[in-house]
Amino acid sequence: MTAHFLQVQDLTKRFSGKNQTPLTVFDKVSFNIDKGEFVCIIGHSGCGKSTIMNTLSGLDSPTSGGVIMDGKEVSGPSLDRGIVFQNYSLLPWLSALDNVRFGVKARWPSWSKAQIKQHSLDYLELVGLKGAENRKPAQLSGGMRQRVSIARAFATQPKLLLLDEPFGALDALTRGVIQDELVKICVKTHQTVFMITHDVDEAILLSDRILLMSNGPNAVIAESVTVDIPKPRQRGDIIKNPGYYTLRNHLVDFLVNRSASSHYKEQTRPLMSNPIKSQLSKEKSEPLAPRSCAVSEILPTGT
Ligand SMILES: Nc1ncnc2c1ncn2[C@@H]1O[C@H](COP(=O)(O)OP(=O)(O)O)[C@@H](O)[C@H]1O
Ligand SMILES: [Mg+2]
Repeated sequence: MTAHFLQVQDLTKRFSGKNQTPLTVFDKVSFNIDKGEFVCIIGHSGCGKSTIMNTLSGLDSPTSGGVIMDGKEVSGPSLDRGIVFQNYSLLPWLSALDNVRFGVKARWPSWSKAQIKQHSLDYLELVGLKGAENRKPAQLSGGMRQRVSIARAFATQPKLLLLDEPFGALDALTRGVIQDELVKICVKTHQTVFMITHDVDEAILLSDRILLMSNGPNAVIAESVTVDIPKPRQRGDIIKNPGYYTLRNHLVDFLVNRSASSHYKEQTRPLMSNPIKSQLSKEKSEPLAPRSCAVSEILPTGT
């Protein structure tokens, strides 16, 4: 069996909580990501999504379990993994161009100055910032700053791109425009992406697969839902897909009714479901009952 590009195996994170009682944020979280896959993770605040992402990046380490990327164990930060945070972490004293150039130079130290500049400008153009390259972050809108962060992350061509609610602080219109840009860039680059979002529609627009995380403490990946809507997707068109609302309702129902950890206490392995497939095969037209979603597969545990 071919090894997956990213293997997250039995990841557990414990913090010392109040009165020294340990707090197990998540418990034995396992999932895989294949090369070129776009995987979103959805779950309520505090369930541990950012902690998982920080562990994938190498900025944090798990209490137990491990992460293997491209055959090597993740044991610290690396330019192989690019991150975009919610709060546009740009260097405020550098221009947009220099913020991108900084990353490119670190990635390819042997490149000439002209090569580094051209490569950085190409990525700024890709996110619609041609002409704004000399502005400092304070002279850019929130949407433009986030575009610089995205350009910087893509420009270094990381093997894995990690996005932690990158559009959470943006207004809905700007968010829509940048999401569309992200769709285009991913089509062009076949970038492997792991993204945290709170936005169900954003997850459906972008993902090949959506991981649903139960509430903490002791959170688990409760389901892995495949999004079978053909790519590239367009916001206006995907709602016409016959499975769109079944999938959307399934995700919302999880967040509203099924995300409590107690729901998954007896469960030793996470569920994998594909509501769109079940809808298209027209097996049943009645509404999805809690926990009776189309469970078609069990996540592999051995890889
Ligand atoms: N350094 C820390 N010490 C103690 N508890 C922490 C620490 N970092 C995160 N936590 C706790 O871990 C839980 C998960 O945090 P986080 O990963 O940020 O969740 P999410 O991104 O899903 O909102 C939260 O309850 C948070 O308070
Ligand atoms: Mg978070």
